[in-house]
Amino acid sequence: MQVACTTSGLDKPGTFAELQQQLAGVLQGERDGLANCANTAALIYQALPELNWAGFYFLRGEELVLGPFQGKVACVRIPLGRGVCGTAAERRETVIVPDVHAFPGHIACDADSRSEIVVPLVRSGALLGVLDVDSPRPDRFNQDDARGLEALVAQLLEASDFERIATSRS
Ligand code: SME
Repeated sequence: MQVACTTSGLDKPGTFAELQQQLAGVLQGERDGLANCANTAALIYQALPELNWAGFYFLRGEELVLGPFQGKVACVRIPLGRGVCGTAAERRETVIVPDVHAFPGHIACDADSRSEIVVPLVRSGALLGVLDVDSPRPDRFNQDDARGLEALVAQLLEASDFERIATSRS
């Protein structure tokens, strides 16, 4: 499937509104969580500017395990509470890090990353994993990105089954 670049001439809310429409098309008729996360990571990575990594970690017991992503090879296992991903998972809230070097415990996978946003995957009060997006530009992410990515995650969770790929923790 060809995904048009959505960034030209649109502000962030406009870009995310368009991305939501594209994601709806990508998810239509498919409930496999692994496949849908793979296409969601690809869509985000293709459509949003200034990214060097976009992908998922799934909850497996007490740790997060690498799922589908776009970008350089990444660390596979992150304990809950560790790094930006483990912090967002434990708090069950979106974490924006304007400067990864200033975040205590940040886990450096790609040395190009300068800022990062992590959105937890929470369905019906249960944690399933996180969406992690990195940028080579400092301070790349703001509240518009948080709201936009949260909307995409909600859409993904609604449309997909995760029973075979993630632990569910209430
Ligand atoms: N930086 C993340 C680790 C994952 S990579 O960025 C892909 C963290 O601190 O949790």
